Amino acid sequence: AEEAAKGPSTLTFTQAPHKIGEGHQVAPGYNADILIRWGDKVIEGAPAFDPMHQTGAAQEKQFGYNCDYIGYQPLPLGSNSSDHGLLGINHEYTTPDLMFTDWYRPPEAGKTEPTERGTTPEETQVELAAHGHTIIEVKKEQGVWRVVENSPYARRITMNTACRISGPAAGHDRMKTNADPTGTEVFGVLNNCAGGKTPWGTIMISEENFNGYFGGGDPANMPEAANYKRYGISAKSRYWWRESVDRFDLAKEPNEPNRFGWMTEYDPYDASSTPVKRTALGRFKHEGATSIVNKDGRVVFYSGDDERFDYLYRFVTAGRYDPANRAANRDLLDSGTLSAAKFNSDGSLEWLPLVHGRGPLTAANGFNSQADVLIETRRAADMVGATPMDRPEDVEPNPVNGRVYVMLTNNTQRKDSQVDAVNPRAANRHGQIVELIPPGGEGAQADHAADRYNWTHVLLAGNPAKPEDKAVYHPASDVWLSSPDNCAFDPRGRLWISTDQGEAQTKNGIPDGMYACDLTGPGRALVKFFFACPIGAEMCGPEFTPDGKTLFVAVQHPSEVLGATVEKPATRWPDFKDGMPPRPSVVVITKQDGGEIGA
Ligand code: FEO
Ligand code: CA
Ligand code: CA
Ligand code: CA
Repeated sequence: AEEAAKGPSTLTFTQAPHKIGEGHQVAPGYNADILIRWGDKVIEGAPAFDPMHQTGAAQEKQFGYNCDYIGYQPLPLGSNSSDHGLLGINHEYTTPDLMFTDWYRPPEAGKTEPTERGTTPEETQVELAAHGHTIIEVKKEQGVWRVVENSPYARRITMNTACRISGPAAGHDRMKTNADPTGTEVFGVLNNCAGGKTPWGTIMISEENFNGYFGGGDPANMPEAANYKRYGISAKSRYWWRESVDRFDLAKEPNEPNRFGWMTEYDPYDASSTPVKRTALGRFKHEGATSIVNKDGRVVFYSGDDERFDYLYRFVTAGRYDPANRAANRDLLDSGTLSAAKFNSDGSLEWLPLVHGRGPLTAANGFNSQADVLIETRRAADMVGATPMDRPEDVEPNPVNGRVYVMLTNNTQRKDSQVDAVNPRAANRHGQIVELIPPGGEGAQADHAADRYNWTHVLLAGNPAKPEDKAVYHPASDVWLSSPDNCAFDPRGRLWISTDQGEAQTKNGIPDGMYACDLTGPGRALVKFFFACPIGAEMCGPEFTPDGKTLFVAVQHPSEVLGATVEKPATRWPDFKDGMPPRPSVVVITKQDGGEIGA
């Protein structure tokens, strides 16, 4: 460690093996333990995981599939505890070929690809219950974290959980369905990718790729045709839910998709609280929504729309945060200004407000109210001239330096003619990290409500050994990364990056996992590799405890490689037992000497 400390980086750990394997790997001197796995008990009375005989009723009480965002909230509420707290964990999607047996049928006549058999009604119920969110109570004793059994905070939020809709789109005609003629109540949160926390101790759940669950009918000739198209909704759904649950059939409930694609806020300290979809933050493929209290007391949320050529957004509350009265902040997220980002080649950035009646956002263009602007946030941002980005994923304000970091995953579809200053590479396979610099000064002086910022790159990902990648890092970096996805900051303000290469993992030949680098000083953008996921998995959810001595990470979709099935997975991580499928799990990382992660 001493020798490493002599280099320009302040990170002193020895790197983890940068290799794809069946297990996970962490830097030497650290422990990386499984905290909770798909199917583990969450709610009192949950049956033991029985992978060959799953039911929706069991899954409602067990840890869901494909864990993603992790939010740590200390216990008791308002404390700074780093050894006792709540974890709110998203479950993004389900992977039926790795969950259910006998998934593929031989190719149909004249075809070469095997046929997916589709989910049975009971398997659909398993999937509905495997989506959503889990709240667990966790405690560190003698240096070891464990889940507290039968905690009063323990909860599953699934596609069957009643949620309220609030803000400007609540109650609008386009939000009404046969089951909910008020347009204010909806069951469930869908495709929950990253998330965020509020200063008042609630957690934000994002809804990302909600489009793939809806289908049927003749969407190209229905009243919401343009809206469906802009969000990728078509007659053919990715999932089979609409075969047994009417609300996913567009012909039966054409407005149901308008009730997804939002940010949902819930209170992890009250297991009976109703999650609330906060429509003021807009409707798109939200990757997350991370917050910072501005120096004037307004609260600012940053959010990316994870699609090729979609946008980066900011929401500024109208009201001010009241640290002395938690209840006074309850509906802060119902009014404020949503804006989309325009990046200029001179290194400046403009926030373009999406406000009904301003500029092109008028009835002449089909926006009759702020509800229309929010339901069709993407089209509103198209019209004001926001900058189409290379898949904006996590966007997070750094509380130490007051700057904001944008993970842009990749965009292989960008053409030479579409290259711009902030998205500088065509056929961008590896993504980039952008730093936004608000005016006003460093740290708490930064003005996150300003109309104009500056921006610069932290790094352009890719393999520096391949000139065609046009990668840019600190020259002393001896490891490379692809597809930055989520991020976290340790208490010193250093950047921790998780990656999601998707199908490109095999081609790139490197694992997904956790990387870290300094953001200031001579070690800026000198990347080091800390944790490797097992094969097929992406890395999600990085979250530090306030003392920086624990890092929680989510290993999502282990074994998700072409052709893998329950019977023949690429890995049986983390149990490695015959008959036990691979299981998405939360891993807790601590340093063996009890010190700060990364040191
Ligand atoms: Fe769920 Fe944008 O990754
Ligand atoms: Ca991703
Ligand atoms: Ca994060
Ligand atoms: Ca992800």
